[in-house]
Amino acid sequence: MAETKLSSFKDQRWSLQGMTALVTGGTRGIGYAIVEGLAEFGASVHICARNQEDINKCLEEWKGKGFCVTGSTCDLLFHDQRQKLMETVALVFDGKLNILVNNAGIFTPKPIMDYTDEDITTTIGTNFVSGYHLCQLAHPLLKQSGNGSIVFISSIAGLKAWPFASVYAASKGAMNQCAKNLALEWAKDNIRANVVAPGAVMTILFENAAKLAGEWIMLSRIWCL
Ligand SMILES: NC(=O)c1ccc[n+]([C@@H]2O[C@H](COP(=O)([O-])OP(=O)(O)OC[C@H]3O[C@@H](n4cnc5c(N)ncnc54)[C@H](OP(=O)(O)O)[C@@H]3O)[C@@H](O)[C@H]2O)c1
Repeated sequence: MAETKLSSFKDQRWSLQGMTALVTGGTRGIGYAIVEGLAEFGASVHICARNQEDINKCLEEWKGKGFCVTGSTCDLLFHDQRQKLMETVALVFDGKLNILVNNAGIFTPKPIMDYTDEDITTTIGTNFVSGYHLCQLAHPLLKQSGNGSIVFISSIAGLKAWPFASVYAASKGAMNQCAKNLALEWAKDNIRANVVAPGAVMTILFENAAKLAGEWIMLSRIWCL
């Protein structure tokens, strides 16, 4: 894969030239911004999302900016699709991955009693199980890079209680603890693990969640409690 030209670096004082990164959910919102940040510093990036058209549109935009970004579809909820994604990444990056950003996530606010088994499985599967599995799959590639870094995009909801966010919060809380265990076990392989826990960021996820949560708040009058 070609590398971003030196002249396009955001900041000449340091760079990510020669580094490779996988960003899940890179087609919009926080993931999109992460891809831009990494690519501007010279990293070669691979993204995944479920919507192929969105991926194509993003790749066109980034190509126009001179960034080295590839992409493939993957529904992270499914084990076999995660395996296929990592096979693609290994191929694209020649068996070495420096940075894994577990960013993709979903949030469907509901009162605790309304969550179904399927809701729980889908949210925990997308937000936590997928990231955990990608770490397992990426381990040989991260180790091979000699300098691996895992970043989980968690949430402030994984640290504080918010109404109608119990399952989302649990998925992020699990992620927070998992990062500590990964950092401990994989330090010997020169692989770091860190968590970023944003507050509200105006994205599609946030807008949809705020709308749904607002409806539940109106119904339950939880602000009075
Ligand atoms: N926005 C906030 O206020 C906020 C605050 C704290 C934390 N976060 C966290 O930040 C991360 C990004 O959130 P965002 O607000 O940027 O969300 P977003 O705008 O909805 O973007 C989510 C991205 O993830 C992809 N995605 C979702 N489900 C997927 C799946 N099953 N398989 C593959 N890709 C999938 C989406 O593409 P497709 O739909 O095409 O699959 C999209 O590219 C999430 O983990 C979220 O929990 C967000």
